[in-house]
Parts: sequence; C-alpha cells; structure tokens
Amino acid sequence: MPEIAARAHVDRLAPIVEAVLADAGVALADVDAVAATAGPGLIGGVMVGLVTGKALAHAANKPLIAVNHLEGHALSPRLVAADLEFPYLLLLVSGGHCQLLLVKGVGDYRRLATTIDDAAGEAFDKTAKLLGLGYPGGPAVERIARDGNPHAVPLPRPLVGSAEPHFSFAGLKSAVARAAASDAHSVPDLAASFQQAVVDCLVDRSRIALAACPDATAFVVAGGVAANGAIRTALTDLAARFDRPFVAPPLWLCTDNGAMIAWAGAERFAAGLFDDLSVAARPRWPLDPAAETVRGAGVKA
Ligand code: KG4
Ligand code: ZN
Repeated sequence: MPEIAARAHVDRLAPIVEAVLADAGVALADVDAVAATAGPGLIGGVMVGLVTGKALAHAANKPLIAVNHLEGHALSPRLVAADLEFPYLLLLVSGGHCQLLLVKGVGDYRRLATTIDDAAGEAFDKTAKLLGLGYPGGPAVERIARDGNPHAVPLPRPLVGSAEPHFSFAGLKSAVARAAASDAHSVPDLAASFQQAVVDCLVDRSRIALAACPDATAFVVAGGVAANGAIRTALTDLAARFDRPFVAPPLWLCTDNGAMIAWAGAERFAAGLFDDLSVAARPRWPLDPAAETVRGAGVKA
C-alpha cells in the first residue's frame, strides 16, 4: 500500500535520524556528506527519503550523494570483506530483482542476466502465501523446508541449461500451486522441493556467468534471498568448483538496511561522485543503462 508506506516514512524518518546520530555520538555538522536512496522502488517512500536527505544536506551545508538501492546491495559485501576487489561477479537476489552483474567499479556495472518474470524473493513470497506461511515468505519457507524432503515433489527448473544465464520463476510458482492443490504432498515437502528448485536454478545460471567471467576476482551474493542457508551452501560449493573465493555478507546486511546505503555513499564519496540537490527520485533505475530488455521478459527488465 504505497500511500501508507510513504506516510510511515514521514512519521518515522526524523526520529530515526535523531536516534542514529545520538547512538553514534555524532553531530550532523560532523558528517562529511549525506547519502540517500533515490530509487528504484515505490516512489512515495523513495521521495520521502530523498527529500529528507536533501533537507539535511542543505541545512548542514554538506554534499548530497544519491544512491541506487541496487548499488547498495552490490557494494555491501565490501563493507565486511575489505579485500574484495573489482571486478567481481555478483548474484543479486532480492524481492524485486534477480540479476547477475559484473561489478567493475563504483558506479560501473555490467548486467549479464536478469529475470524474465518474477524475482527470486517474489517467488519465495508467493509460494509462502499459497502454502499459508505468511510474509515475508523467504524465512518462513526456509524454516518449514527443514522438515521436508527436497526431492519429494517433482517441480520444473525454468531456463536451466539455456545458454544465457537469465532467470524465470513464474512457472515454478504455478507448478507449486498445482502440486499444493492436488493435496498429494505435505507443506514441508512442498516448501523443501520448491527451495531445492530455486537452488538448482540459481546454481545453474550462476555457473554460466562464472564461466563467462574468468577475470572475476570472486563470486558474491547479496540481497534478501542471500540470507537463505540452503542457497548459501550451494553457492559456496559452486564458487569452490570454479576456484573462486565466495563472499556472502552477514544476514543483517543481506536484507534491506540503511548501512548498505551509507556504505555505497562512502564509496561514492571516495570516488568523488556527488549529486546536485535537483536530483530526481526514480521509480525505475537500472544499474547498467546499456543492458538490453530480455526477449520474453515481462516488466522486470
Ligand atoms: O533485499 P530485500 O530485503 O528487499 C528488496 O530489495 O526486495 O529482499 C527481500 C526478499 C523477500 O522476498 C524475502 O522473502 C526474501 O528477500 N528473503 C528470503 C530469506 N530472507 C529474506 N528468501 C529466502 N530465504 C530467506 N531466508
Ligand atoms: Zn533490497
């Protein structure tokens, strides 16, 4: 509910800014710059955040840094792995996105693949809903999947084996819906089998991208779905097969958080990348502007 989300941002943001500064023992006058998310996402909330950032920057006479939410996810691993160097291959798996990106530098991203329909987290959320597990779906599915057999329910692995490393999850979700409607399987078996299908898709697609990026210094996963233990384990094995270090941020840094935006702001600050107070909030904002719309894709290019 975009309107309620935007109003909640208005209510909470000023007290949070005050609390965070107090907690850090820092005055606004002491910060070097103000970073704020400028998109992509539900525009109401993004606008409240960006306008607040602009107001703080203007009042304190500090530079403004507009951060792409996806760039926050993309650079967050460097907050905890100081030796992680560009270029690295990133699997970005969240509620709104499922992409493979070559992170070449701050502000320099090449998108190798994206989803042609649902994002991975969206598939978890929709599956949780149809299994009656609540929201957010990812943690709920992961929890109940521990009691299930990942090979109990035959489910498709969309796009597995295709030459380009794109993703598709809509058909998988529909197959879970049909299997659930048949009443032939337990909820734990359905959840475990669904999660295994997602693991197999992510591993196969990442394998293609790793093979195409011999220069990548490491294989990195980020975004809310990177909190999933089964996915982390499978990706660890994949990176080992390619003899590449595997980097996954701690769980608190995987799901959406302010620290990753502050960190991306610090990286942009170090690179001398600043923004004007006239910068606009963007509901859509691809990390790689040169990336083409994928054939067969729905809205999530
Ligand atoms: O990155 P994020 O916090 O927000 C977006 O930018 O979308 O990702 C949220 C997504 C949700 O779809 C949620 O279900 C999923 O991440 N997620 C998980 C897990 N924890 C969060 N998916 C699978 N397993 C988890 N443990
Ligand atoms: Zn996110």
